[in-house]
Amino acid sequence: MRLGILTGGGDCPGLNAVIRAVVRSAEGCYGDTVIGYRHGWHGVAEGDSIELTGASTHAVLDTGGTMLGTSRYHPASHEGATDRVVDTLERDRIGALLVVGGDGTLGASRPIAGRGARLIGIPKTIDNDVLMTERSVGFDTALWIATEAVDRVHTTAESHDRLMVVEVMGHRSGWLAVGAGVAGGAHVILAPEEPFDIGEVAASLRHRHQRESFSIVVVAEGAVPVPGTLDFAPVEGPTGTITAGAIGERVRSELASRTGFESRLVVLGHVQRGGSPTPADRLLATRFGVAAVDAVHDGAAGVMAALAGDAIRFVGLDEATSGIKMVPKELLHVARALLV
Ligand code: F6P
Repeated sequence: MRLGILTGGGDCPGLNAVIRAVVRSAEGCYGDTVIGYRHGWHGVAEGDSIELTGASTHAVLDTGGTMLGTSRYHPASHEGATDRVVDTLERDRIGALLVVGGDGTLGASRPIAGRGARLIGIPKTIDNDVLMTERSVGFDTALWIATEAVDRVHTTAESHDRLMVVEVMGHRSGWLAVGAGVAGGAHVILAPEEPFDIGEVAASLRHRHQRESFSIVVVAEGAVPVPGTLDFAPVEGPTGTITAGAIGERVRSELASRTGFESRLVVLGHVQRGGSPTPADRLLATRFGVAAVDAVHDGAAGVMAALAGDAIRFVGLDEATSGIKMVPKELLHVARALLV
């Protein structure tokens, strides 16, 4: 069989590990040929591809980024692109296309699947907000990077008696903010799931500073104030994502003026998406890749690989792209219970 693969949306550590696993298992177990489309759906629409082999995917397991390139291109937003995608898949005689992406890239599959293409999704995003899977490729590495950053900020915050605001990625969900905030021992965590009251945050920090001389506030880039409590409008970038640093600076300056504490902002930004994947991400990426190839040969279509406990299972792609996976109340409670 001829298999296609693309990586779309924001890059993350572990994408090359997925590609490598797909190519090795497809070639080694089934004698398949694998075609890699460049820069996500754009490469399928424009017929921009390369043949991937065991040799060309050698030594990529531990590398960051994606050897195929990526983009936030969605065929449905470009005139005639859905037709061109279908044509490319027919011309290249692709039996099944493996779509490695977050909710945007996976969601963009719908019209293509509707035209009869056989698609298998693999979830990746440092935001960890794809529905129906406990983990997406890239999250573990980003969590590690963000936690390490919060850890390191502790010593400089304490040495200078400062309030440090650390902004992490997550424009619609707070998995990274809550994860790194709890694991890194932050004193306040602001996530998109729970709008914050800046007055309450300032009061809790003033209370804390009666005993301690420093604080760390972790804020997700998509965190929002309770309506009417703070003048703030998120600054959207060209692809619908959020401009890094906006909420972090707003929170920092407001807390500084309300508490009088000396403050600094650290915006982790794309550092969280770069570099080598952790062992957990390499393992998850490899399991998803092998399982997806097996699923193709078992006749699957319109499904997404998902982690459920210790097992990899397949869930409906439509259902998995019907919304965003938010941080559950229990974990938000943990974040609050340990604070200040
Ligand atoms: O990949 C998801 C994400 O990391 C979001 O948390 C962030 O808002 C966005 O990507 C940034 O994307 P871009 O690199 O396109 O600015």
